Amino acid sequence: MRHVISVHDFSVEEIVDVLDRAEDMVAIARGETTSDLLRGRVLACIFFEPSTRTRLSFETAMNRLGGGVIGFAGTQATSVVKGETLADTIRMVSGYADAVVLRHPREGAAKLATEFSGVPIVNAGDGAGQHPTQTLLDLFTIRTEMGRLEGLTISLVGDLRYGRTVHSLAIALSKFGNTINLVSPEGLEMPGEVTSELMAKGMLGKACHSPEEVISDTDILYATRIQKERFPDPVEYERVAGMYRVDPDLLSRGPEGLIVMHPLPRVNEITPEVDGMPQAKYFEQAFNGVPVRMALLSMVIGGK
Ligand code: NCD
Repeated sequence: MRHVISVHDFSVEEIVDVLDRAEDMVAIARGETTSDLLRGRVLACIFFEPSTRTRLSFETAMNRLGGGVIGFAGTQATSVVKGETLADTIRMVSGYADAVVLRHPREGAAKLATEFSGVPIVNAGDGAGQHPTQTLLDLFTIRTEMGRLEGLTISLVGDLRYGRTVHSLAIALSKFGNTINLVSPEGLEMPGEVTSELMAKGMLGKACHSPEEVISDTDILYATRIQKERFPDPVEYERVAGMYRVDPDLLSRGPEGLIVMHPLPRVNEITPEVDGMPQAKYFEQAFNGVPVRMALLSMVIGGK
């Protein structure tokens, strides 16, 4: 039984294997051809926190492979409001489904869930912890757009403290031999354990507070949202909200071939004028969640 909890669970070879399988899934993901690879199988998507792309792309992936989906988005109509523990919810749901995709506000929740589940748990975001399936689709996007997964300079810009996508992505990129610049407002720097890992691999580039400092030497600008919901103090959020803005002026100072990515949702980190520019890849990135999650489900549930 294979759980997907953290990017640390994947070797470089395994990541490449998922991406190769995802490439084979693109035509099915687009609806150009059909598949019944997971017919008769059931996926549970249980989301204790808001989600648009992650939940819907998992559901689409399962449906496109001929399987069925159960679950909930928000706990208000579930027994969680009656006081049911995560452990009991997982025990039960894992009896109804062949795999459980879990999003939860608490860091470590997905790992905890594995202790009570009889089927694979897939971490779809655990608080400010990790978001490994987002990382797989980010890597798929990078490989598709740049033609390679190594020797690139990626600048992660925004809330590096509470943003789980950048925690997982930085670790994975470093495994492939890429330089990572860390750009965040003061107080929202990358957690020490991630930075130490980048340093140990010799993959830490510049750590600074302004995208202007790194833009001329950036292949991929990966912008992220300030994670408002994780701030203990709303005044602190107001201090940093809207601090960074990716706009045509900033991009004009970047090298030829630079691309802009974002896990979405964006609030105001990327101005709408960027959407029509050739550098903008974030909507393709969101679509890539479908073939990548199809590949993952075929491995986790289908045993393929
Ligand atoms: C991200 C998340 O939930 O961590 N969204 C996503 O899954 N694409 C990013 C965010 O919420 O800012």
